[in-house]
Amino acid sequence: MGPLLLLTSTLLSSYLHPWRVVDAQKSFTIRGITLSVEPSTDVTRDTNVTIRCQAIVSSSGHQPLSREYTIYKDGIVVYTKTSSSSEDFLYQLYNARVSNTGKYMCKVTIEGEQRQSETKKLTVTGLSPPHLHINNGVISEGEELTASCTAPGETGSIIFYFYEGSKEKREERVNTNHVEVSFPLSSSGIHKLYCVYTILITPDSIWSEKSNSVTVTVRELPITPVLEIFPLQDIYEGDRLDIFCTVKNVPRNTNNLDVYLSQGDQLLSSGITEANHSMTALAKDSGEFECRLQMGHVVKPVSKKVSVTELFSVPTLTMSPAEVFQKEPMTLTCRSESFASERLRREELTYSLDPPESFLIPRGNGEFSGKALPYEFNYTCTAQAKGIVKHSKTLTVHPRVSVSTPRISVVGKAVLGRPFQIRCESDFGSLPINYTLLENYDPLHTVIVKQPGQQALFIVTFRHPGKTSKYMCEAKNSHKDGKLSETVDITAIEPLSQPLLTIIPTLSEIAEGTNLLLICSVKGTPPVTFKIYRDGRDQPLFTTNSYDNNTSFEIRDLSKEDSGKYYFEAFNPANNVISSEHIHVEVQLAMWKKVVIGGFCLLAVSVLVVVLALFFKSKRGKREAAAELSVKPSSPKSDDSLTVNLTHDTEVYNAATVKVNRTDSVWSERPPADNDEESSMVSHEPDVEYTEVVHPRSADPARVPLRKGTDTVYSELQNSPHAGFGGVCRAQRRTT
Ligand SMILES: *[C@@H]1O[C@H](CO)[C@@H](O)[C@H](O)[C@H]1NC(C)=O
Ligand SMILES: *[C@@H]1O[C@H](CO)[C@@H](O)[C@H](O)[C@H]1NC(C)=O
Ligand SMILES: *[C@@H]1O[C@H](CO)[C@@H](O)[C@H](O)[C@H]1NC(C)=O
Repeated sequence: MGPLLLLTSTLLSSYLHPWRVVDAQKSFTIRGITLSVEPSTDVTRDTNVTIRCQAIVSSSGHQPLSREYTIYKDGIVVYTKTSSSSEDFLYQLYNARVSNTGKYMCKVTIEGEQRQSETKKLTVTGLSPPHLHINNGVISEGEELTASCTAPGETGSIIFYFYEGSKEKREERVNTNHVEVSFPLSSSGIHKLYCVYTILITPDSIWSEKSNSVTVTVRELPITPVLEIFPLQDIYEGDRLDIFCTVKNVPRNTNNLDVYLSQGDQLLSSGITEANHSMTALAKDSGEFECRLQMGHVVKPVSKKVSVTELFSVPTLTMSPAEVFQKEPMTLTCRSESFASERLRREELTYSLDPPESFLIPRGNGEFSGKALPYEFNYTCTAQAKGIVKHSKTLTVHPRVSVSTPRISVVGKAVLGRPFQIRCESDFGSLPINYTLLENYDPLHTVIVKQPGQQALFIVTFRHPGKTSKYMCEAKNSHKDGKLSETVDITAIEPLSQPLLTIIPTLSEIAEGTNLLLICSVKGTPPVTFKIYRDGRDQPLFTTNSYDNNTSFEIRDLSKEDSGKYYFEAFNPANNVISSEHIHVEVQLAMWKKVVIGGFCLLAVSVLVVVLALFFKSKRGKREAAAELSVKPSSPKSDDSLTVNLTHDTEVYNAATVKVNRTDSVWSERPPADNDEESSMVSHEPDVEYTEVVHPRSADPARVPLRKGTDTVYSELQNSPHAGFGGVCRAQRRTT
């Protein structure tokens, strides 16, 4: 039963913890790491500095823990130690140096668990003074000096510098406190040297003070370069120059000697102990020649100045005349302004022209003449004597083109009082061209055309009507006479003015059947275009171009329809349209019509007279003839108009229309008749009484009796809505 239980328990246990057979309990904890710098973080040189690293660890076990201490300086591991002691770890810096300056940090690792301290900076000050030492205080030119510099007791990365005065001679970087170097001292004489060093610490470098000063004497070697130039004076162009560069006092056993002969940056020659050079002197060779020897570090130069006199100057090429026209004669002159007469006769100096095929013939003495080419050409010339050749600058000859005969023309129209232009132009000719306008052969104005495309335009204004002037122009582009254009006569066009429309016959005589003559005249320059209009019509009656400044137009056989307003418009090349006044023409009746009408009138009057005469004659016979007055409305529908007809027998001889007020009575006045007592109002009945048909509403004071002579006739109308206008007027004749 027991082993079975144990087996079960084991199986169960392994079932429950299948991968963990041993479970080591963690038995410590790092509570903190402290870094301290003793005695201080700022110390002077030679102090014993301790970097203390304290790890505070709590543990449950009794076995000591293995602790790994790592010290970092400026992030770099400087020390590692494993200890099982629980005491503080001490990192000792005996006799601290400036190179120990830096940021320190401590890291502790226990069984894979790490903790690190904070960083502390240690600063060490004070550098030991450097010491310079040389083996030999006297050396020869070209020998190297061997010197050593020491920084006693210093550690770390050190750079040493060697100085001569303020001039740095050498720099050397080492990881020791001592360095030995060799370097040359170029010049002879006494040299004072010292050294300094610098310690590199992050991120700076600390400089030491200067070392002791050491004096070195450099002995000059007797070796010297020698420069000889033949000749040295009175050198002219073309002279032969011989130059020798040699060395004096060459020491024995010398193997690394070289000499160089140069002029400016040009090396003429070089050799082991001598360098020669021969040349023909040229003016450009004036200057310094140098002979230089080089032996190891020893360099010795010597130089001499040479002045070469010009034999003749660079020639100049000139042209005469200064301005030449195509195919006209010209002369080119090649001349060297100066020459060394003590060395050269003028005849020895020869000139030639380039290119040779330049169509100019040499006339001797540097002159070349011929005709100018019709195109641009470049010339140069060459002067030579004693093997020296000199070229002039290029002369470009631009032969000018003579101006062609100009043309004169008027731009636009010459209108009186308005400025207009006269143009003058030549088809070809080199610019600038002077164009002069001449008026009646007198120069008026000059225009200089300088640019291609520019025009010579002259502005002219005519002030006086009827004036004609002769114009011509002259074109000139050389010193020769200019060319003249043709002559033009210019007369200014006078703008139209003073339009006058004359009508014949006089207005009062214009009658049907007569002919009407319209005469148009203007002041101004012909040709004139006239247009005659009648008011109200767009189209002119008549249009004409007159070469005169007047015109006329006739309308034949006038009729009444020809009445109207007439005017004309006119314009001429000055282009201002002027208009005349509008004249009203009234065509009157023809004479014969008047006569006919007059005759008829006379006839009618005569007939009337006869009729009247006959009437009165008959009336006297019928003295008691009845008179009938009938008054009736002229129209039954009219409310206010009545026609009163006076009737005698059946013959109506007069009529009057009377305005009637509806409510008022109207007295019809008898029309004037002859003075006869027997009025036409006499009733046919002898005893007629005045009877009112309708009662008057009131006695109207304004009622005035119509009285004629001794007869009174009352005629009253009563307006009544019932009675209408119907009514009878009875007249009573009273005879006094
Ligand atoms: C520094 O330590 C060294 C070695 O232990 C010792 O000889 C020297 O006297 C110490 N210097 C000072 C200033 O304590
Ligand atoms: C240089 O000139 C001297 C003297 O004329 C002559 O003796 C020597 O051989 C010449 N040297 C050379 C390299 O031409
Ligand atoms: C003349 O020389 C000028 C420059 O010096 C050049 O531009 C030009 O084209 C030359 N004319 C002719 C005709 O060769």
